[in-house]
Amino acid sequence: MAKQFILPKNGTPANELLDRMESFKSRDLNWTEGKFFGYVFYPGEEIYEVSKKAYLSFYATNGLNPSAFPSLRKMETEVIGMTADMLNGDENTTGTMTSGGTESIMMAVLSAREWAHKHKSLKGIPEVLAPASAHPAFPKACHFFGLKYVEAPLMDDYRVNVAEMKKLITSNTVLMVASAPQYPQGVIDPVEEVAGIAKDKGILCHVDCCVGGYLLPFLEKGGVELPRFDFRVPGVTSISADTHKYGYAAKGASTILYRNSDLRRGQFYIKTDWTGGIYGSPSFAGTRPGGAIAAAWAVMNFIGEERYIKMQMAAYHTTQKLKKGVLEIEGLKILGNPNATLFAIASDKYDVHVIADEMHHKGWYLNRQQLPPSIHIFVTDIHIGKEELFLNDLRDAVKKAGKLTWDSIKKSVQIGAVKGLKKILKPESFNKLIDKANSGNSPDHDGRQAAMYGMMGALKGTDKLDELVEDFIDQLNSPEDTKDE
Ligand SMILES: Cc1ncc(COP(=O)(O)O)c(C=O)c1O
Repeated sequence: MAKQFILPKNGTPANELLDRMESFKSRDLNWTEGKFFGYVFYPGEEIYEVSKKAYLSFYATNGLNPSAFPSLRKMETEVIGMTADMLNGDENTTGTMTSGGTESIMMAVLSAREWAHKHKSLKGIPEVLAPASAHPAFPKACHFFGLKYVEAPLMDDYRVNVAEMKKLITSNTVLMVASAPQYPQGVIDPVEEVAGIAKDKGILCHVDCCVGGYLLPFLEKGGVELPRFDFRVPGVTSISADTHKYGYAAKGASTILYRNSDLRRGQFYIKTDWTGGIYGSPSFAGTRPGGAIAAAWAVMNFIGEERYIKMQMAAYHTTQKLKKGVLEIEGLKILGNPNATLFAIASDKYDVHVIADEMHHKGWYLNRQQLPPSIHIFVTDIHIGKEELFLNDLRDAVKKAGKLTWDSIKKSVQIGAVKGLKKILKPESFNKLIDKANSGNSPDHDGRQAAMYGMMGALKGTDKLDELVEDFIDQLNSPEDTKDE
């Protein structure tokens, strides 16, 4: 890699570079078309322009030191204040803006660890107890900060099984987690029950509202009945909410809120004897891009409560139409009882990965899930009005998936072959083979990923799966082609 890319001796004219960069985009997802779910929250040109202008206006600024940029301090404080109000916090509720949901969750885990060191006498490694459906940011945080991660099983409706969760509490449990909603099936965990237990046991409770923070408050105000999920629930001590998801602000912005400032202090890092001066940082990042803070402030103020309610309710109605249409297709089902704007399509009759492949041929890029296999749907503003287009394509894709096609035969042969080869090949040779198979399954290829997911299924539970995913990430972060498109 080092020899492959060399800094040019002389610069290149900006226009030429911008043209080349435009061409790099040719294989990216078309995020203004609305034929995929997740990744990008596009609210249309009007709001997008406000976000872009605000970002550019504060492009060079740095939120590391608020006394150098009082403008950022003002906007960050106001974003936190508005979010705390939306989530029914009180005058003691406080928080920080971060780079995204993952960082907000990491801060909640870190502050729980620090809080426990201060207020509890632990006998071992501090533990985080979370539903099996919780976002991987939680185990990632435990991995980074040296906590033990304990997973609680789910009920048949994919919400956490509170009775089983309770049994997993130990004297080292410092934080219990619930999600509102969780990502995979879009269901809301029983926050009141989880937080109630946490409160009784003297444990902190985090609600992952990364998706729901700028969605559920407006659905409630629009008349949707939802279980309680925010600071109204006694025992909830922190909440993460992402402005860069349903807040429709620029990427790189989320909030982590705490019931009081003592809890927030746990995420600060301070070094008073550094030769460079006294150093203090409020979160994971050192330098914090002012643009992301400014865009969040501008977008929230531009949209305002009434328009957020309209936008989120429209996405909710689209979700209802999509769910109804999906359930009318024989052989398809929806997992659990998702009550917001996310859901997962599964089937006992068809291979959903083959359905996703067929949808790919119609221009839809769908996220696939496992345990059980399903297709993830994440409805946002861009999908409003595309219900019939999606459902017509889905009906057609299901019809095709039902036929014994060359692709489905090829896939089952591949899975069988993988299982057989795993038994007879040496691990190194087997891994090489898998690498090769993966390289033909990137979304920009012919889009046929069913075989890859089938292989993942065949390998599940073996020690090779971690290694395989590591290889895959390594491959995705390595140069694919040195030539510009
Ligand atoms: C429920 C939930 N929590 C946390 C995250 C992590 O957010 P980010 O990707 O911004 O780090 C996500 C991302 O989709 C999510 O769905």
